[in-house]
Amino acid sequence: MLDTAANPQLNAHGELLHLLSIEGLPRDVLMRILDTAVPFSEVAEREVKKVPLLRGKSVFNLFFENSTRTRTTFEIAAKRLSADVINLNINTSSASKGESLLDTVDNLAAMQADMFVVRHASSGAPYLIAQHLAATQREHIRVINAGDGRHAHPTQGLLDMYTIRHYKKDFTNLTIAVVGDILHSRVARSQIHALITLGVPEVRVIAPKTLLPIGVERMGVRVFNDMKEGLRGVDVVMMLRLQNERMQGALLPSPQEYFKSYGLTPEKLALAKPDAIVMHPGPMNRGVEIDSAVADGKQAVILPQVTFGIAVRMAVMAMLGGG
Ligand code: CP
Repeated sequence: MLDTAANPQLNAHGELLHLLSIEGLPRDVLMRILDTAVPFSEVAEREVKKVPLLRGKSVFNLFFENSTRTRTTFEIAAKRLSADVINLNINTSSASKGESLLDTVDNLAAMQADMFVVRHASSGAPYLIAQHLAATQREHIRVINAGDGRHAHPTQGLLDMYTIRHYKKDFTNLTIAVVGDILHSRVARSQIHALITLGVPEVRVIAPKTLLPIGVERMGVRVFNDMKEGLRGVDVVMMLRLQNERMQGALLPSPQEYFKSYGLTPEKLALAKPDAIVMHPGPMNRGVEIDSAVADGKQAVILPQVTFGIAVRMAVMAMLGGG
């Protein structure tokens, strides 16, 4: 029996109510999302871009933190599903006058919201909203986590899995390296949970000791502090941004020193398999974690990741709100 109190994103039948985190989601749910995204990706390539699955539904984008890719692709995805999309401007909303998060949610719910897409600097904010909606008998309003603190970014993790499956076909014969600031990265946590759940046999994390969470091995990964050693023979390199906004104290000597040891250059990439792909969730810091020659090179699939994000977000919203 599922513990729905501990995992409020699933109902008693194991079906997705909200998307809050990849941790705790079974493989078949992840695969269903990826499979559902395939025809949406094809719809996006055809001239007729809209389907009526969310017609009459209102999707509220609540971004309490900045975003380019996630906010925009959620908006495109919702519009392609024929939903009405409302982008709350947090800077001009009453949150700036001291209104609490849950009061904001209650007021938007009173405007007959059907779905909240939430990004927040505090880990757990989307959980709090989902629990509040359940406690007030409004769980028909679905919540999607668009990135909370350093906790989770589930749709980023899913679009990354979609990208890997697109290029590599099968998860079960891959060696994948996640490189950089694992400590502060919600993307890394979502990626690692997804890769392990989908059966990737070797997931490596490559980072200096100061940017690794204590006990990261317990997530099922192999730890490398030497980037050259960690990249040897990998099929996929997943780069991460240095999350300077979440760092406290001097965890690194300087961006230049970091680039020397952990920046992905053509020379370091040559240690991976010749057909290895390079991914990055964006925004990229060129010359800090990645060299422009790699970011713009033949092996980079960074812009296709963004495009696949539309189909994956359509799939998640369709499954939550469109049947
Ligand atoms: N990858 C990602 O979350 O990018 P944005 O911050 O631009 O949404």
